[in-house]
Amino acid sequence: MSTQQTEIKFAYWVPNVSGGLVVSKIEQRTSWDIDYNVKLAQLAEQNGFDYALSQIRFTAGYGAEFQHEPVAFSHALLAATTKLKVIAAILPGPWNPVVAAKQLATIDQLTKGRIAINVVSGWFKGEFTAIGEPWLEHDERYRRSEEFIRALKGIWTTDNFSFHGDFYRFHDYTLKPKPYNQNPHPEIFQGGSSRAARDMASRVSDWYFTNGNTVEGIKAQIDDIRAKAASNHHKVKIGVNAFIIARDTEEEAKAVLQEIIDKADPEAVNAFGDAVKHAGKASPEGDGNWAKSTFEDLVQYNDGFKTNLIGTPQQVAERIVALKAIGVDLVLSAFLHFHEEVVYFGERVLPLVRELEKQQEAKAA
Ligand SMILES: Cc1cc2nc3c(=O)[nH]c(=O)nc-3n(C[C@H](O)[C@H](O)[C@H](O)COP(=O)(O)O)c2cc1C
Repeated sequence: MSTQQTEIKFAYWVPNVSGGLVVSKIEQRTSWDIDYNVKLAQLAEQNGFDYALSQIRFTAGYGAEFQHEPVAFSHALLAATTKLKVIAAILPGPWNPVVAAKQLATIDQLTKGRIAINVVSGWFKGEFTAIGEPWLEHDERYRRSEEFIRALKGIWTTDNFSFHGDFYRFHDYTLKPKPYNQNPHPEIFQGGSSRAARDMASRVSDWYFTNGNTVEGIKAQIDDIRAKAASNHHKVKIGVNAFIIARDTEEEAKAVLQEIIDKADPEAVNAFGDAVKHAGKASPEGDGNWAKSTFEDLVQYNDGFKTNLIGTPQQVAERIVALKAIGVDLVLSAFLHFHEEVVYFGERVLPLVRELEKQQEAKAA
């Protein structure tokens, strides 16, 4: 008996901060303003994208001089679309779980179950200092994030919720209304790939988001997380970041990548490189996001070139299906010119992905 395979899903980064998704002075026909973003969300849902991911930044970093707040911004995108799910990034510390639970439950009601959350744990010490937020050491940030997620789930699903953690406490609290989505609750994504991040994913997150990487690098993470999750009787899905450059010819695509790197803003990239030393590198094992990133990798601020979705539609589609084969459930994409390239992706790449998936399915049957 053949089982129906699940199609790989696609998300895009919401450019709700200025400067696009590469730290480069190359021309980017991408804007962080609301009109541009509403149109982008509409184009994305018409072109096969399932999710949009908004970003949380309180101050400039890697450029990103202007930043819209992601929960409010995500709601505006949801109000302008009908199918797209929007994942709002939230940083424990500035947000506490009761505010997040209430805000997101309301948005979930208003949008009939289309909000999700990306719990991020912090890598930018300068930002925390600027907003007067205590800076916890690496693994403590994840301990707090895990409590945040446990509290959020508890509030969303349980009446008379009580919780006694080191960071958060609740006493007999009942949220009304609960989220629209009770199946079981709005999806919880997380960013981060250190040991602490992976362990958190293997216990509490619905989705694990990681920076771009090679197929081998991604596979090693997936195998590790899935083995741990299985021993915890937990299931976690995997999303991988990629900066997609799909062009009619491979030469064209590679030339765009080269131009992005040649026109990189060295000051901003190096400042970013310094700031991210507080991420993976600061973990006890010294590994995780950005721990091994080169200058060129950092030009895309989540290592998106490394995933190598750069080439013709056929090459990009084949590499996406290869990611699916190692257990990736979702590709989180960024583009140079979002409007134009989301449409190109939907028209030229996605049909090839679906075709290759069918072939893979037929082979497996
Ligand atoms: C896909 C993705 C999205 C992220 N979005 C944000 C964000 O919007 N704001 C933020 O401060 N950190 C964001 N992060 C950073 C992570 O939450 C985490 O702090 C960082 O990856 C360091 O992880 P590590 O130390 O566990 O390796 C994101 C990470 C990933 C992989």
